[in-house]
Amino acid sequence: MPQHDEIGSSETSATRHAPDELLTVGEMSRRTGVAPSALRFYEELGLIASHRTGGNQRRYPRHMLRRVSLIAVAKRLGIPLSDVQSAFENVPLDSTPSHDDWQRASRRWKRQLEERRLGIERLEQELTGCIGCGCLSMKACGLLNPDDALGDDGAGPRRLDASA
Ligand code: FES
Repeated sequence: MPQHDEIGSSETSATRHAPDELLTVGEMSRRTGVAPSALRFYEELGLIASHRTGGNQRRYPRHMLRRVSLIAVAKRLGIPLSDVQSAFENVPLDSTPSHDDWQRASRRWKRQLEERRLGIERLEQELTGCIGCGCLSMKACGLLNPDDALGDDGAGPRRLDASA
């Protein structure tokens, strides 16, 4: 099976870089379209990692291109960073991930997206019913009080109690 280059890359084989190449913050930002401040933020969250030069400048291993590009795509699709974090959980940060590492992450992410899709479908059905109903009943309305979850906290107006 042909090996694909990093996501977001438009390099030809003539310009392909070594896998252990290190990218500056500016290069990473330019290649992925992600602002340097966002790169720092993703690093603080542990989604990506960098090396430091003797002058304390960040250098990103080339394999971080894929991570950053996937984060950017997830952000565009409104997928929370916590989901991305979970999908990347077993993908190594300190070495170039293998094809299998990414395959496992892909399967995990696909399951999460499927769960999210089903949740949105359920919400859509309930919302459609509620717009037609309008009762806003804390007892009967699945949208306001799914599975009477607030009933587990005891009787009475639980939301009002909580805000008091
Ligand atoms: S508003 Fe009546 S069931 Fe939700």
